Amino acid sequence: MQSQKQHEIFVESDLPSLSQKGAEIFIREAKKALNANQKFNVTLSGGSTPRKLYELLAKPPYLLSISWEGVHFFWGDERCVQPNHPESNYRMFREAFLSRVSLPRENIHRIRAEMQPEKAASEYENELKKFFGQPEFPRFNLALMGLGTDGHTASLFPETKVLQEKRRWVAAQHVDKLKANRITLTVPVFNQAEAVIFLVSGEDKAEILPQILEGPANPERFPAQFIRPANGRLVWVVDEAAAKNLRPS
Ligand code: 6PG
Repeated sequence: MQSQKQHEIFVESDLPSLSQKGAEIFIREAKKALNANQKFNVTLSGGSTPRKLYELLAKPPYLLSISWEGVHFFWGDERCVQPNHPESNYRMFREAFLSRVSLPRENIHRIRAEMQPEKAASEYENELKKFFGQPEFPRFNLALMGLGTDGHTASLFPETKVLQEKRRWVAAQHVDKLKANRITLTVPVFNQAEAVIFLVSGEDKAEILPQILEGPANPERFPAQFIRPANGRLVWVVDEAAAKNLRPS
């Protein structure tokens, strides 16, 4: 394991072993939170990278490692589509995990992104405020995050207004280059987390990863650089293909 500045980096051989490492860290963080508060509040990442991790969690040994009824799943971001749309982050998690593990419905905090975007964002923010019962930013036990080839994470895309959001917990953002609307948690919420794990896999991330981790700070251009939990652990779990241009430790 290389430890760089304020974060740890684990370089795994490939996506299966990266997913395994991610599942181990997930369970470790879950046990800590469940032992302390009988609850584990985690925000999920979308896209394709985390699917295998979610599938692993739905099977032994991980499935048998914790009592899941205390686990509350939230989404770090969602595409503005129906929940059964192929692009939906909820659908991906339902296929990979929820279809295999029965959880109380109230533990699944889906972003209703099929609604008008601004309404979906304010409704989700209200749901979070009700769940956490506090006016200050919520402190998730864990945030799972991915990295786009353009340096975005969640739906925090380069040069977008939401990057400067300091007050709201959840925001709707039109992403010009995708010609799509997204709902995303905001930077202050992610940075309040107790632990953040980035999962980054594949050759196509080999160019962006060193720019994020080793390049000059330029978070407007590379939004993943905004994610630095003030009082939390920041862990990068990457595979060799994505890590090939990183400086040797
Ligand atoms: C999303 C994700 C997004 C994702 C990156 C990487 O809704 O798309 O939250 O931030 O993590 O785009 O996606 P891949 O894992 O598919 O490369």
